[in-house]
Formats: sequence, structure tokens, C-alpha cells
Amino acid sequence: MNDRTPPEPEELHAQVQHRLIEELGATERRLRRLLEILPEVAVQCDERGAITYLNEAWHSLLGYEVEDSKGELLTTFILEEDRDSWPGFPTPGEADREILLRFQAMAGDARWFRATLRTTTEGERTGLLHDVTYRIDLEHQLRQSQKMEAVGRLAGGVAHDFNNLLTVIIGACEGLLSSPHQEEHSRRVEVETVLQAADRATMLTRQLLAAARRQLMSFRVLSLSVVIEEMGSILERLVGSGITIEVDEQTTDGWVRADPTHLQQVVMNLTVNARDAMPEGGQIRIIISNEEFPEGKRRTGLPPGSYVRLTVADTGEGIAPEDLDQIFEPFFTTKDAGRGTGLGLATTYGIIKQSGGAIDVESRPGEGASFHIYLPKASEEEAVAEDEEQEAPSPGGGKETILVVDDDIMIRQLALRMLTEGGYTVLEASCVAEARQQIESHTGELDLVMTDVVMPEGSGVELVKWLSTELPNIKVVVMSGLGEEALDEWKDGTVFLEKPFRQSGLLESVRSTLDS
Ligand SMILES: Nc1ncnc2c1ncn2[C@@H]1O[C@H](COP(=O)(O)OP(=O)(O)OP(=O)(O)O)[C@@H](O)[C@H]1O
Ligand SMILES: [Mg+2]
Repeated sequence: MNDRTPPEPEELHAQVQHRLIEELGATERRLRRLLEILPEVAVQCDERGAITYLNEAWHSLLGYEVEDSKGELLTTFILEEDRDSWPGFPTPGEADREILLRFQAMAGDARWFRATLRTTTEGERTGLLHDVTYRIDLEHQLRQSQKMEAVGRLAGGVAHDFNNLLTVIIGACEGLLSSPHQEEHSRRVEVETVLQAADRATMLTRQLLAAARRQLMSFRVLSLSVVIEEMGSILERLVGSGITIEVDEQTTDGWVRADPTHLQQVVMNLTVNARDAMPEGGQIRIIISNEEFPEGKRRTGLPPGSYVRLTVADTGEGIAPEDLDQIFEPFFTTKDAGRGTGLGLATTYGIIKQSGGAIDVESRPGEGASFHIYLPKASEEEAVAEDEEQEAPSPGGGKETILVVDDDIMIRQLALRMLTEGGYTVLEASCVAEARQQIESHTGELDLVMTDVVMPEGSGVELVKWLSTELPNIKVVVMSGLGEEALDEWKDGTVFLEKPFRQSGLLESVRSTLDS
């Protein structure tokens, strides 16, 4: 039997109260722990909109101390440009409000948040801020690259047709110039002028192709520092007096794999842009540094890894925020007609992308612009290994038999003339079927096939594949105008001859392929 006397009512009351307080405390601790591990910012405000409560995510996402922020108006942390779109908390009983807007982080950058705002019937104002910066950045990059892709295809198509025409123009001019007749001598200057113009047009189509990321590149392991050093005097002359160039090498091993000529073009484009942004003079800083992209922190769309960063920074007028999205597009320019074509940055973008890197820009109006280029890091050992396999260029000309396949009769005739002059025996075909016929019915030697890629009936890719299985001893040179060398279908070691070509280039690649 239990002989304890039942507790007095006051005692019972105190016990219950004690239990309740303990349970409340436990619940509170549990809720607080939950709030502290929440990746979203939880915020409460009073009726003026001043902050009364914040969880730790506020500090980890935006950098401000929670205690310092309490009492401040929540709106003061919203990015100035976005403050007008702040809808305020709903009135008690009204439905939740959702809004996408940017907050200003303490470090100066802006972060995107999807904010859900609720006011309870008791008037308690609560907000949950979900950080969506990463997703918005990715979407932005995707849109940007889709746009560049589309414009690139267009530019590449135009460049292809131009290249065919230019090949013919250049070939005809060279024909005229090498003609032995004295009476034509008086026209020599004009022909040379045409040739010069054609060369300039060739440069322009090359730029278009670079912008379309379809350019023939010869990659080498090289040191960015050396590239910049070698360009020193060119750059000084380019910017003129009134602008100083300072090179800041924060690393001695800026080894990357790139095409040196294209890399120079990139540095020149960026330097000229910097110059143009500083009509009153100023300073250009070229900085080379190492950059690690750790796992999980993807910037500029590059995978994690080691990169070399090349920065070209100026103290010029800067770029308007509304232009930032467009500056890499072909033909976007803010310069007067005749001063800018808007191809500089598009070319730069194409070259860097094709080299496996990325480019981004930081700029505020009036505060200058900094362009950052990231290229995957290579090593000095790779450079040494490459140098050792360099070989001397081979001379042109020979006695072998070559089949030229191109649907364009002008190109065929041109190649025929160039090759015959080099001493070769030449056969012709205007399509893949005819080429196969020629090859199968030809009784003598056939040493090399030179083929176009894009032809109305059957592509050069097919022909090359067929040859490599049926007649692997016949060598192949692929004539390319559209940057087809970028296609995945080619075997390693396929030789490309870029259109438009000159006689020397043609003979050289034919000879070295035959000798390989
Ligand atoms: N360093 C810079 N400072 C300010 N604005 C720049 C800078 N670099 C580029 N821009 C802006 O980007 C635009 C596009 O540059 P881009 O180099 O592609 O073309 P462009 O310089 O106008 O012409 P092009 O290079 O073909 O002669 C420029 O017109 C300019 O408005
Ligand atoms: Mg430019």
C-alpha cells in the first residue's frame, strides 16, 4: 500500500508548472537548433520592418553579424536597384507574398534570394529567404552560350562561302602575277592591290570563324609570361603615350596550352579596348596569377581544377550594366561607325572557349573594367617534351599522283593548277561517288586524296572513312573552310588545309603528308 499523503493543491500546481516550463524549454531548444541548421535565412520583423530575429544563415550567406543587424530595417540590406520591387510584408490575414530579389552581401557582391513573406493573423511578420544565386548564374550562362552558339553558326556559314570565293580570287591573282607576259606587267600594281584586299578579307573571315569557335588552331604549351613579354613593345606602341602598361606577374609558371598567335590576338583585343576606354589616358594592368577552382565551387562554368588567370584591367570609363550581357556578341559595339566592328570580344570569347578556358568581366561605370581569362594550367615539362618533337618544314613539289575532290569547279581548277605547277599528276572528282569511281578504276599509282568536306552529295568525312578502311595506304588532306576540323568524326592525325589557301601552303601540306 502506498501510505504517502496526496500532495497539496499548491504543490501539484508548482510541479505541473515546472514540467511545462521544462517542456517549453526543450521545444524552444529544438526549434532553435532546427533554425540554425536551416540553409535559408529566417527573419522576423516588427511592424516598421525592423529586424527582430535572424538565424545563422544570414551571417553565412551575406556576411553580416546577426546581432549588429537586429534593429535595422530589412530593406536597407536589399540591393539598391531592387529596393523598388520590395512588396513589403502582407497585412495580417492576407496571403503569403513571394518575390525574387537581390540582397547586398557585406563583401560587396549581390546574391539572389527567393523571399517568402508571411504575416500571421496576430501580426507577426516572418520571412524565409532562399538563396538562388547559383541557379540564376547557371541559367544566365546557359542563355548566354546558346545565344553565342546561334550567332556563331550564322557567322560560320557566311565565312564558309566567303572562304571559297577568296580562294578563287587569291588563286586567280597569283596566276596573273606569275604570268610571264610582259604586256600584263602594267597591271601588276592593281593585281597586287586586289591580293592585299583579299588578304584582309581572309583575316576578317578568320576572325568570324574564331568568333564562331571554328578556327584551325595549333596548340602548344607556352608560358603566358613569355607571350606578354614578347608583346611588350607592340602593346606600348598600340596604346600610345598617356597610357601606362604595368605587368604584374604573381606567378612564374603561367604555363598553358594555347595557340600563340591567337593568344596574342586576345591580348591585343583587350588592350585596344582598354585604350579606347581611356581617351584621357590612364593605366592598364596585366596580371598573371594561378587560380584554383575547388570542388563544388564552379565559377564561369569551368570544372574544378588548376587554372592560370590573365587579367587585363584598366582605369577607364567602365561598362554600363545593361551592356554587360552583350559585349561578347559579334557586332556589338558602342563605338562610332568606322572605329569599332564589335568583333574584338566575340573573337576573344571564341578563342578562349576553343582553348578550354573561360572569360569574364568585372566593371562598374566610371571605375574601369577588368577582363579575366582562365586557361587550364599546363606544366613546363610538357613544353620541353613538345619542343623535342618539333621538326623542320618540308619543301613543296613532287612527282606523285593526287586526286582532288571538290564540288566547286573553281576550287578544283585552282588546286589542279597549283599542284601541276608543283610537278604532281592530278586527277579530279566533283563528288564522293565520282571520287570512289575514279579511285576504283584508276590503274596507276594514287598517293594522296585531297578532299572538301561539305559537298551536296555525300560528305568528305564519309570518303575519308571509306579510304581508311579500304585503302589505308593512300594519304589524305582535308580542305576545310567552315572549321570542320572541330568535328569529332575525324581520326587523330588527319591533316587539314584551311581555305582559302595559297600555293605555298597547299604544296607544303601535301608534301609533308606524303612524307609522313
Ligand atoms: N575595357 C573596356 N572598357 C569599357 N568598355 C569596353 C571595354 N572593352 C569592351 N568594352 C565595350 O564592349 C564593346 C565591344 O567590344 P569589342 O572589342 O567586341 O568591339 P569594339 O572594340 O567596339 O570593336 P572592335 O574590337 O571590333 O574594333 C565595346 O564597344 C565597348 O562598349
Ligand atoms: Mg575591341
